[in-house]
Amino acid sequence: MTILENISLKNLNTFGLEAKARYFVETISEEELKEAISYDLFKHASKLVLGGGSNILLTADFDGLVIKISIPGIKIIEEDKDAVFIEAGAGVVWNYLVHFCVERNFGGIENLSLIPGTVGAAPIQNIGAYGQELKDVLYLLKGISISEVKEKTFQNDECKFDYRDSIFKNELKGKFIVTSIILRLSRNPKLNLSYGSVKDEIEKLNLKQITVRDVSNVISNIRRRKLPDPAVTGNAGSYFRNPEVDEIKFLKIKEDFPDVIAHKQVNGNYKIAAGWMIEKCGWKGKRIGNTGSHAKQSLVIVNYGGAEGKEILMLAGKIKNSVKQKFDIVLTEEVNIY
Ligand code: EPU
Repeated sequence: MTILENISLKNLNTFGLEAKARYFVETISEEELKEAISYDLFKHASKLVLGGGSNILLTADFDGLVIKISIPGIKIIEEDKDAVFIEAGAGVVWNYLVHFCVERNFGGIENLSLIPGTVGAAPIQNIGAYGQELKDVLYLLKGISISEVKEKTFQNDECKFDYRDSIFKNELKGKFIVTSIILRLSRNPKLNLSYGSVKDEIEKLNLKQITVRDVSNVISNIRRRKLPDPAVTGNAGSYFRNPEVDEIKFLKIKEDFPDVIAHKQVNGNYKIAAGWMIEKCGWKGKRIGNTGSHAKQSLVIVNYGGAEGKEILMLAGKIKNSVKQKFDIVLTEEVNIY
């Protein structure tokens, strides 16, 4: 394990933002990780854990230790006729794990195809797309508590999962590092085609029997068409969460904007499409300097090249102000800001 100093993080965040790490270490095992966080030099230093860097906005140099988690490995640890338990290292690329499972017809994460980032980052924000969320299949996760330098296991219900949220984004922020996850997937998958666009595209294929691979392919195609490829245009996926409002507030908005796009939740509230609100405020495809709201999905903020984190923060602030003025709703960030 090598400790590096004053390292550029530009290629380690999908926004492609320039920021330096005072100290940087890449770890490929739990042992290395424990060794890194136990160094005297780093005991009191702030720490930033990086997976694929796909949900982070760096607004300044990081004056502490940046730890890149590259723990590899996927293995089937148990299976019966209904279920299969798969363990994956935190450093595995998420979509590689999806591919591994889809190829074997294991169901439960096919709708999460092509989500950028690594396995270790997936539970932090409880990744979700097209009607599936990680919390639906996560059996348990393992990791290291930073202050005690000790291994700990979290069962699903201990992770406090919620929409794009978990205990690791709140009480345990900066205190715990995920090293591996175990998923419980189905050997007799029930496909989730609840999203209109997914259903429509599957129907177009006119298949006799639909497999998890078909669903994965359709979703990958939808994402490729709609979302900017971070390898070409820097971005971190959805910048804001879709806000949830109560029925009274929803009806008020519907009265003023009959075309509002929203989904009723089980608790009776409504989740409003933030992308729709941002578009209504006139931001879709609009560019300010090196940043902008993406032309095909306004919830995604992009770096056209050479932007600084502060510029993105400024644009996001302007978008938030517009949405607050027009809809009286305060958008909250989905990305982690440092
Ligand atoms: N819409 C607009 N204008 C826009 C963007 C969207 O009118 O500029 C409308 C769409 O037409 C659609 C609705 O808003 O009717 C929802 O849009 P979309 O299906 O693209 O999904 P989203 O709510 O914007 C969420 C997730 C995505 C996930 C998709 C698909 C959040 C914050 N984002 O986006 O996740 O891929 O659903 O399930 O929940 C991510 O988290 O980074 C991410 C990309």
